[in-house]
Amino acid sequence: MSLRRRLSVALTAEDLAGARVETAAVAVIDVLRATSTLVQAFASGAAEAVPAATPEAARRLRGTSGDALLCGERNRVRIPGFDLGNSPLEFTPERVAGKRLILATTNGSRTLLGVARAPLAVAAAFVNAGAAAARLLAADRDVLLACSGDSGRPCPEDTLLAGCLLARLREGDPGARPEGPGAAAALALWDASGGRVAPFLAGTPAGGDLVRLGLEGDLAFCAAVDRLAAVPELRPGTATVLPGRSGIR
Ligand code: MLT
Repeated sequence: MSLRRRLSVALTAEDLAGARVETAAVAVIDVLRATSTLVQAFASGAAEAVPAATPEAARRLRGTSGDALLCGERNRVRIPGFDLGNSPLEFTPERVAGKRLILATTNGSRTLLGVARAPLAVAAAFVNAGAAAARLLAADRDVLLACSGDSGRPCPEDTLLAGCLLARLREGDPGARPEGPGAAAALALWDASGGRVAPFLAGTPAGGDLVRLGLEGDLAFCAAVDRLAAVPELRPGTATVLPGRSGIR
């Protein structure tokens, strides 16, 4: 990219209001667990995923097309009456191949809805970090890393991935320039972590919740860096998530 690419980070979905969504290549981040689950769902052959802000909105969306699977959580457990929760381990080829998913999670779904106006938006997690960074670099645009946070507050796991992605983006484009306090915080956290993702995730409040719920398998899955090549991508101008182009790892 000729112009010095700008790299910025929104630490919460609320911070998107002031961000350059309309012109950037955007990565939506919700490490525990929404974007990790989306990457797994598309690696398992899902056809598309539609985010919903609330369980009620999800049921209404399903109302119009009965064949979709209702997926989602509140307080990290499956919403009553839904087909699937938000554990990546549930999204196997047997359950989701060829299926349309409607996804209602607490934070990740709202972030996806918040970037529908982006010219390019992808779902990023540690499991597809390298592939997602490659897809963003190929877009030849400034990059915005959109962390979901936790109910309006930054969360360490999303900020850590933003730092990891900034490091990968700078490897791919040495002239790229991180901008703003969010990017500075993300890079500092990534450097301080020494890249030790699994113990870091286990030490976060969300990680603690998952362990208390007996979902250690989810934590291990979400910490598996570069395990998958799938890079789910929003249909431009909509919040509908499609398989996208698998990037190189
Ligand atoms: C969220 O969207 O808030 C998270 O993905 C919730 C979870 O799965 O624990």
